[in-house]
Amino acid sequence: MNLLITGAGKGIGYAATEYALRAGHNVIAISRQIQALEALQAQYPTTLQVFSIDIAQAEALTSLLPCLQQAGKLDALIHNAGVLINKPFLDLTDEDWAQSWNVNVMATVRLTRLCLPFMGVVGKAHIVHVGSMGGFQGSTKFEGLASYSTSKGALATLTECLAVELAEKNIHVNCLCLGAVNTQMLQQVFPVYDAPMSSEQMGKYLIQFATEHTPFYNGKVLPVAVSVP
Ligand SMILES: NC(=O)c1ccc[n+]([C@@H]2O[C@H](COP(=O)([O-])OP(=O)(O)OC[C@H]3O[C@@H](n4cnc5c(N)ncnc54)[C@H](OP(=O)(O)O)[C@@H]3O)[C@@H](O)[C@H]2O)c1
Repeated sequence: MNLLITGAGKGIGYAATEYALRAGHNVIAISRQIQALEALQAQYPTTLQVFSIDIAQAEALTSLLPCLQQAGKLDALIHNAGVLINKPFLDLTDEDWAQSWNVNVMATVRLTRLCLPFMGVVGKAHIVHVGSMGGFQGSTKFEGLASYSTSKGALATLTECLAVELAEKNIHVNCLCLGAVNTQMLQQVFPVYDAPMSSEQMGKYLIQFATEHTPFYNGKVLPVAVSVP
């Protein structure tokens, strides 16, 4: 299958990319820092394509077009990139809010718009939003995460809206609301917390969900968590 994964340079996205390549998929991987991905490319020279892109920059995304055209079709679009700004509500500036929403929501919207001509219609395709338990309605909330959690909540609603609009094109859209996974992002908020989930475990699950569960879910916002946080 042909997959596009954002936030592939580290954490869950890197682990997902590595697992997808081992499973025999073709991967278009996006991050700003791509050193780790370039090292991986030496092992998978024909099935991994790496792009250093700041997804918050709308025009930068268009550099992906030739690669998408060459691939011809995309089976799964995995919106994994995310930014977390940890500040009390009154300290959050307009720039902080804009950054959270630009990376977590608007980049997702723009990238989906760019990729849609290459997805679905004949074969089934899957768009997976990587949300967070912080954006899951009724979940425990934590101080300092207002801009992050609301942007993830927006992804959950976007999932439900797109699932309706894209059903006729054979494209399913789902949101996985992750609980704690041991990555740099988690350490930013909970520096001494040892989560019961590794990025390798979650990366594997993400790829299995994106590639194998497509027929079973559409428009679903699913909690994927075994702990609080
Ligand atoms: N870890 C957890 O406990 C947890 C819990 C719930 C949800 N999540 C979600 O899971 C996803 C992956 O998180 P993680 O824990 O693996 O975090 P991470 O280790 O901080 O990785 C985040 C990824 O997003 C990319 N990214 C951020 N801003 C970007 C930008 N402007 N342009 C391009 N790429 C950008 C980063 O790449 P560069 O810096 O190289 O650009 C990096 O690859 C996120 O959406 C996060 O919200 C994580």
